[in-house]
Amino acid sequence: MRVLLLGGGGREHALALRLADDPSVEALIAAPGNPGIAGVAELRSVDLVDPAAVAGLAVEVTADLVVIGPEAPLVAGVADAVRAKGIAVFGPSAAAARLEGSKTFAKEVMTAAGVPTARAYTCTDEAGTAAALDLFDPPYVVKNDGLAAGKGVVVTDDRTAAEAHARDCGRVVIEEYLAGPEVSLFVVTDGETAVPLLPAQDFKRVGDGDSGPNTGGMGAYAPLPWAPTGLVDDVVRDVVHPTLSEMRRRGTPFSGLLYVGLAITADGPRVIEFNARFGDPETQVVLALLETPLGGLLHAAATGSLANHPPLRWRDGAAVTVVVAAEGYPAGPRTGGVISGGEQPGVIHAGTVRRPTDGALLSAGGRVLCGTATGPDLAAARDAAYQVVRGITLPGSHHRRDIAAAAVDGRITLPV
Ligand code: AMP
Ligand code: GLY
Repeated sequence: MRVLLLGGGGREHALALRLADDPSVEALIAAPGNPGIAGVAELRSVDLVDPAAVAGLAVEVTADLVVIGPEAPLVAGVADAVRAKGIAVFGPSAAAARLEGSKTFAKEVMTAAGVPTARAYTCTDEAGTAAALDLFDPPYVVKNDGLAAGKGVVVTDDRTAAEAHARDCGRVVIEEYLAGPEVSLFVVTDGETAVPLLPAQDFKRVGDGDSGPNTGGMGAYAPLPWAPTGLVDDVVRDVVHPTLSEMRRRGTPFSGLLYVGLAITADGPRVIEFNARFGDPETQVVLALLETPLGGLLHAAATGSLANHPPLRWRDGAAVTVVVAAEGYPAGPRTGGVISGGEQPGVIHAGTVRRPTDGALLSAGGRVLCGTATGPDLAAARDAAYQVVRGITLPGSHHRRDIAAAAVDGRITLPV
């Protein structure tokens, strides 16, 4: 089959690598792609949030399957426009992508479906914000209600900072703080059948020891040696199926990738958020361990035939990825820095470009590259990922030194 992959970050590079080595994928086209993806796909350019333009490109390249990486095209209705051309799409409709696009909508669905999550209130003005904050003890959790690429959340003990974030956003969701280690669980679905991938953990804060501001994600590992027994089955039963059936009941079935962000609290797993797409950088580690051909799996989800898909096969061992971020990220990343070591095996490209004059690799975003590796166990995978990172140079760049460290040392404890 011919596959058109939309997006150009680290997640899409990881997807591209696995799509390219699926024997059923005879051609891989990516738009816009990036210099890493260029190694395995033909690159095209398109405005990702223009549904008609993307549908036109899908027709032009005679795609049999379109895989949508980022959330913005989903929320803009790109999946709907491509589907209207009779082309299979991995990714939800705009109506179903509201599970990610609106925190308020996601809470409504969770409430209707009886999904365990944090108590929450939507607030649109200062008085409402103050009243909601009064109902909770610190730390306060204040979320931008719209799409914020995983960066619209403030978790703080400082009430003034919580109020300031609410004022900046306009419309916010204020919710109960969930204490416990976080899990990202990806579920491939055709709207009815749910196929969970391996659970992963990402690192949202910019600094070691979870210090500093939230980011899009600074690293990840999978699987989770500390995860409670039965976690995945429990979440599929208590979260995923109730959510999928509520979405069907509303006439807006969710197909594609349901990303369940969880906290493992003393009362069990609680949903922190839903996303409507693969997470970045968790995708880099989860797909590094997947042996089942990816194109066939995504095509089955896109065509409503997941129930007939064989069970997934996974490599033994573990995977770790460490993000190399630009100077100033996340506040104000500096771009245009010259990168060396970007062609090593294990390097996933996120925010990179080639300089037209000489082909030099330059930084072009906040999260620039990821060093990814697998190993027979988490400690070995971690060492190998940091070995890849040591081979990368980008002046002023920074990365976390403690990705997967607590899990390797057995320091992650479940609240009781
Ligand atoms: P979100 O964009 O909803 O994923 O939030 C980003 C990050 O903020 C999460 O990964 C958590 O680390 C944190 N966070 C969000 N909501 C909560 C909550 N209710 N309790 C504790 N931490 C949260
Ligand atoms: N890793 C967090 C996200 O993709 O939103």
